[in-house]
Amino acid sequence: SDIRRKLVVGNWKMHGTHATNEALLEGLKSAGPLPCEAAVCAPFPYLAQAAERLARSAIAWGAQDCSVHEQGAYTGEVSVAMLADFGCRYVIVGHSERRALHAESDQLVADKAQAALARGVTPIVCVGETLAQRDAGETEDVVKRQLSAVIHTLAHCVGEMVVAYEPVWAIGTGRTASPEQAQAVHALLRAQLAAATPRAAQMKLLYGGSVKPDNAATLFAQVDIDGGLIGGASLKAADFIAICRAAS
Ligand code: G3P
Repeated sequence: SDIRRKLVVGNWKMHGTHATNEALLEGLKSAGPLPCEAAVCAPFPYLAQAAERLARSAIAWGAQDCSVHEQGAYTGEVSVAMLADFGCRYVIVGHSERRALHAESDQLVADKAQAALARGVTPIVCVGETLAQRDAGETEDVVKRQLSAVIHTLAHCVGEMVVAYEPVWAIGTGRTASPEQAQAVHALLRAQLAAATPRAAQMKLLYGGSVKPDNAATLFAQVDIDGGLIGGASLKAADFIAICRAAS
């Protein structure tokens, strides 16, 4: 909808080297003005590189995960305070890969979102069903349950987060949700948010899962789809820019 400026976020996942990032970030910067808000979420070791290279550009940057803890004896963890310390704008929380591979619960994801907001970093909270859950007709129940934990925990701050709907079966598979399938879930999520916050109509709901330059425009044209969370295609500057240009 026109009241919400679109947002396109690249999730680099565990890809890249200092040298390939250098080329990618240069490519993004040289694209010139974009019609949407844009950000890239880099692996922790490269956040400083992203921060430095994207300074004074219109492209923001973020992390792919954070700790729920402020500081302390948590070997291997990165706190939101550390991210905020050098200007991090976004942090992805609850990506399905973390839910599946690191057994992150709905409540842990909600706590991470709260930790982020407490430090002024915008959480991009991911929800989405597996193929088995979709086939069993459980899509609505699953995404509602995932979102409701976050709504409960964030309470009056709910309106400050970004939500990303990423059907697990569409991630990295080349099998994107149809614009109608995605819109249907986005409408459910928006309705659930509307029951919790007066800001629901202003909140950005992103779609993620095999978004490419050739399917982005139709997805982004859906009334409740406010942009995308882009995996594979965010690793090529030309593709990521093309997707951003489809978001006006
Ligand atoms: O977070 C983005 C993601 O999971 C989608 O990945 O490669 O299908 O665009 P991809």
